[in-house]
Amino acid sequence: MLKVGLVGVGGISGAHIPVWEEMENLELIAICDIRTERMEKYPQKRHYTDFDEMLEKEQFDIIDICLPTYLHADFAVKAMKKGINVITEKPISLKKEDVERVYSTAKKNNVKFMVAQVLRFWPEYVLLKEIYDTKKYGKLLSGSMIRLGGMPKWSWDGWMSDEKRSGLVPFDLHIHDLDFMVYAFGMPKVTYQYRSKLPNQDYICLNYDFGDFSIHSEASWYAPDYPFKAEFRFQFEDAIVSNENGKMIIMKNDNTVIDLSQEAEGDTGNINLPKSNAYANEIHYFADCVEKDLPIEKMKPEELQCVLEILNSL
Ligand SMILES: NC(=O)c1ccc[n+]([C@@H]2O[C@H](COP(=O)([O-])OP(=O)(O)OC[C@H]3O[C@@H](n4cnc5c(N)ncnc54)[C@H](O)[C@@H]3O)[C@@H](O)[C@H]2O)c1
Repeated sequence: MLKVGLVGVGGISGAHIPVWEEMENLELIAICDIRTERMEKYPQKRHYTDFDEMLEKEQFDIIDICLPTYLHADFAVKAMKKGINVITEKPISLKKEDVERVYSTAKKNNVKFMVAQVLRFWPEYVLLKEIYDTKKYGKLLSGSMIRLGGMPKWSWDGWMSDEKRSGLVPFDLHIHDLDFMVYAFGMPKVTYQYRSKLPNQDYICLNYDFGDFSIHSEASWYAPDYPFKAEFRFQFEDAIVSNENGKMIIMKNDNTVIDLSQEAEGDTGNINLPKSNAYANEIHYFADCVEKDLPIEKMKPEELQCVLEILNSL
């Protein structure tokens, strides 16, 4: 039975804790947050307000870090130095030097480390990568990825709107799409970039050149509470693969439309879109690698490094 601890019981922990709780071969034994009231919802866990004390008093196999971005690398290193496997929320850090620091600590202490870059486990994006890898609809010609919303107002101590602690839209929001692009398609060149940044809003628009094709991407925290949307549209030689308006659709050049937005019940051209929770997928993947002592093949340090180099250059 693997023993798990989680630190940072804020917004995103609400997507992680239920997954750990549902798993049979491990137990979430303790949680830690500087705000005691955040932990009241989980009375059956042991509570700590100090991470060092939690590490001292408990024996863990896995630590899950759901802290604000600027704390991820230091807390990960601290846990791994105690021989504990670590999964942390994205991004690994705001500083590219941290990739080497974190991975060398993992190697030295013979533990596993993974960043919860959830799009790598999101069914629509997994399917897109599969279509690209198999060339089922021919070569990729162009792509568009967007992630738009309003300025976040819920974070503890307003850390999200503080550039030094969150990196704002590039590191908090656009990183999802950029990380997926680097994972799925390789290392791009930035051929166009535009950013409008004011104290109450942040927007970026970029063009990435992958050699044979280019991808246009936008991300925003607009000033009003713009309803969140994350979409993509990819043009292949023989079809458009789009995930827009809440629907994943393949539109072939002969105008046949395959709607994958519902779990496939009939014939969908041999492609099924599983109805699954991407947060559960990433946590199950990591726990499985720890349990069976498998390498974290779905994530390479050089990909994380490339993403941070691009974001640091914007
Ligand atoms: N993958 C996703 O879809 C996704 C979505 C949202 C957030 N995130 C990431 O998750 C991370 C957390 O974001 P959030 O929205 O949950 O933020 P949040 O502000 O809601 O939660 C952070 C929590 O950390 C606690 N905390 C701060 N300093 C601490 C310390 N030293 N020790 C213990 N607890 C401490 C705060 O009290 C707070 O409860 C961020 O890095 C963000 O990028 C990922």
